[in-house]
Amino acid sequence: AVPDDHVIVLFGATGDLARRKLLPGLFHLAKAGLMPSSWRIVGSAPASSALSDEEFRQHARDAVAEFGLAEPVGEAWRAFEDALSFGAADAGDPGPLVAAVGAAERAVGGSPRRLFHLAVPPTAFGSVIGMLGATGLAEGGRVIIEKPFGTDLASARALNETVHTVFDESRVFRIDHFLGKESVDNILALRFANGLLEPVWNRDHISHVQIDVPETIGIEGRAGFFEGTGTFRDMIVTHLLQVLGFVAMEPPTSLAARPLRDERCKVFEAMRPLDVRHVVRGQYEGYRDEPGVDPRSQTETFVALRVEVDNWRWAGVPFYLRSGKSLGQRRQVVALHFREPPLRMFPVDARPDADGRGNALVVDFDDPGWISSRFLVKRPGPTMRLAPAEMTFRYTDSFQKAHGLEAYERLILEAMSGDQSLFTRSDGIERLWQVAEPLLDSPPDVQPYAPGSWGPDAINDLIAPHRWYLPDGK
Ligand code: BG6
Repeated sequence: AVPDDHVIVLFGATGDLARRKLLPGLFHLAKAGLMPSSWRIVGSAPASSALSDEEFRQHARDAVAEFGLAEPVGEAWRAFEDALSFGAADAGDPGPLVAAVGAAERAVGGSPRRLFHLAVPPTAFGSVIGMLGATGLAEGGRVIIEKPFGTDLASARALNETVHTVFDESRVFRIDHFLGKESVDNILALRFANGLLEPVWNRDHISHVQIDVPETIGIEGRAGFFEGTGTFRDMIVTHLLQVLGFVAMEPPTSLAARPLRDERCKVFEAMRPLDVRHVVRGQYEGYRDEPGVDPRSQTETFVALRVEVDNWRWAGVPFYLRSGKSLGQRRQVVALHFREPPLRMFPVDARPDADGRGNALVVDFDDPGWISSRFLVKRPGPTMRLAPAEMTFRYTDSFQKAHGLEAYERLILEAMSGDQSLFTRSDGIERLWQVAEPLLDSPPDVQPYAPGSWGPDAINDLIAPHRWYLPDGK
């Protein structure tokens, strides 16, 4: 269905996220014919970095040229550009923004819906939301809030309270862009559209699960953000635990937003508070020399940890999560490792899985993504010897437009349609901060690791007797 006519207000319009993802994504949506029949985008920022309409258009053109899939040229670009304007806003002086939104609404005609995208630092969420309430701009509108949503339980609760004084929960879209990734969404299809997998998707058959998101990039000049955030808040408590929600949830009664979010929240409810004995915090060598980083910084650039989900399906099945900067490869992988058959019929020397790498189902959810199952076959020849084998599905082999929509594009479209399925909910977020509390209260010291490695040595003890699927599993 085509979303209602919209005026989208982009706070943080001159920031990094708008440049890399949001402006290119909005142009791609427009080019793909997925925007409403009539719409306008109003960029906003504090008066200190205000732009004229023309400067904002130029800013958008540069962003799309640098980061977009489609070049900012031709009729499509001109139409897009015409729909852009700018209105600065400070808490004390929201006048220019209010005027710009009014003008954009008249240009759209009728009574378009407002969508506010808060691509601003978390410290600014409260004041922007207060301003939206005070000016009346919030009325009937929806709000997209970027992560991280709070820094601990108390701040997330306070932020939820602030948000709810202006927007009721049905109009709040807390974004976690991993949930907009095609292959993460596909986990639902994989599990609940196939009779083959769901019957074995539980503690009876699965020995442990790995969710592994190593990155090769460092902090890319984001010291100001990263020093106060760290990998745990930036990646684990947001992205990786949300992916875990998809992997571990019970079948929802339908694919509607409420049952889908209920089931994900139930997984978070069942999580045991983290045990710091099963957490490895790391920091890459050289991090303390980065500009803007405290030379004695204890901020982690790497985390590996064990999560336990105490419910009927998963009791006793550890989930191992890892993410870090400056590691050996960029990958985004879920690996489910299956238990061995009850009887060892094959001579021991015939078992190539003697190192515990038997059956596994691996979902690579980085765009464009693939799924692979690993099993054992008889090696051809006169004796019964086993060899590892693999069956792999690749999006690019099966679908022409393997990419579909980029995560942010998908999520902005869902927000315009009012569908909250792929967004996080206040109770779920608060529960995750509660689960995180022991680690936030007494974080183990950071351990150094070499850039290009896979993290501090302690990660091997963490997962023993199992082994990390990456990098040797491929
Ligand atoms: C962001 C984090 O949310 O996700 C970054 O702030 C991280 O630190 C990024 O690099 C990874 O996202 P993607 O789209 O590259 O998978």
